[in-house]
Amino acid sequence: MIVRGLLDKKFLEPEDVRVSTRHPAALTSLFEKYPSVQVAENNCTLVRQCSRVLLCTKPLDTIRVLSEISGDLQEDTHLVSIAACLPMEQIARFFPGPVTRVVPSLTGEMSSGVTLLCHNAAVTQSAAKETDDLFRALGNVVVIDEENIDVATDLTSCGPALIAVLIDEFARAAVRHSTLSEEQAHLLAVSTLSGTARLLDEQGYPVETILRRVATPGGITEEGVKQLQSDMPRVYDTLIQRTLAKYGLRKTDVRAEADRLLGREF
Ligand SMILES: NC(=O)c1ccc[n+]([C@@H]2O[C@H](COP(=O)([O-])OP(=O)(O)OC[C@H]3O[C@@H](n4cnc5c(N)ncnc54)[C@H](OP(=O)(O)O)[C@@H]3O)[C@@H](O)[C@H]2O)c1
Repeated sequence: MIVRGLLDKKFLEPEDVRVSTRHPAALTSLFEKYPSVQVAENNCTLVRQCSRVLLCTKPLDTIRVLSEISGDLQEDTHLVSIAACLPMEQIARFFPGPVTRVVPSLTGEMSSGVTLLCHNAAVTQSAAKETDDLFRALGNVVVIDEENIDVATDLTSCGPALIAVLIDEFARAAVRHSTLSEEQAHLLAVSTLSGTARLLDEQGYPVETILRRVATPGGITEEGVKQLQSDMPRVYDTLIQRTLAKYGLRKTDVRAEADRLLGREF
């Protein structure tokens, strides 16, 4: 999705992109559309050929790939990792140079939503700006402190799933209490979500404005709003506590794998 977004929007030229993957067949449609995208022989070859390297593997695989490529990275190679649960301090154990953590979101497929970025101190201002600008191909870009990256990831990257489930549950409840079909309820809920997102985002309406215009005091909408305002803080607090606990577990696994790989090497 990232490579396609950058190429489709012409933020990168296909000749400037090299990919390394264990299964090139999975990228057939990319190569059909962009035949000039080159496939490197392996990860180490790719790293030697590129000034900016984007690591798009799962967190544990990223640690393994880092261990594999560390000897081939130049000290000024700009490493960009999209792995969740892989803090800068773990990456620095393999590569002390410029690193950017990026949190993409599926919403990037629509050139919308937010890509989070977080640069370490070794990333120059111009490299940071260039990287931020590159990811604008996928929608909005927000640079944040690493300490907030997990909670921000919940909002942006887990967000599409969390919001889709929320709206799905709203539609399911409507079906349980009416003769609406699932399709009808889904259509009504999703269209309303889309329209509300546009009011909040494009129109810049504050939530309070929407409440004032829809939820008349003592009226029916207000009844529903009161219910949500009473229940949702607890639901979201629990949700964030659970995801933070999971991030913590994953980070422990990543640290253990890094220890194992570094212990084996030295
Ligand atoms: N999905 C999201 O919405 C999302 C959002 C934000 C961040 N992320 C982060 O993005 C990363 C990737 O997630 P994903 O959902 O895209 O996972 P994915 O679909 O499983 O993609 C991972 C890719 O890494 C490749 N790979 C694994 N080991 C490799 C190696 N040694 N050398 C070369 N390629 C290798 C895999 O190819 P094989 O076929 O060879 O295994 C696969 O194509 C994760 O770290 C995740 O935290 C994902």
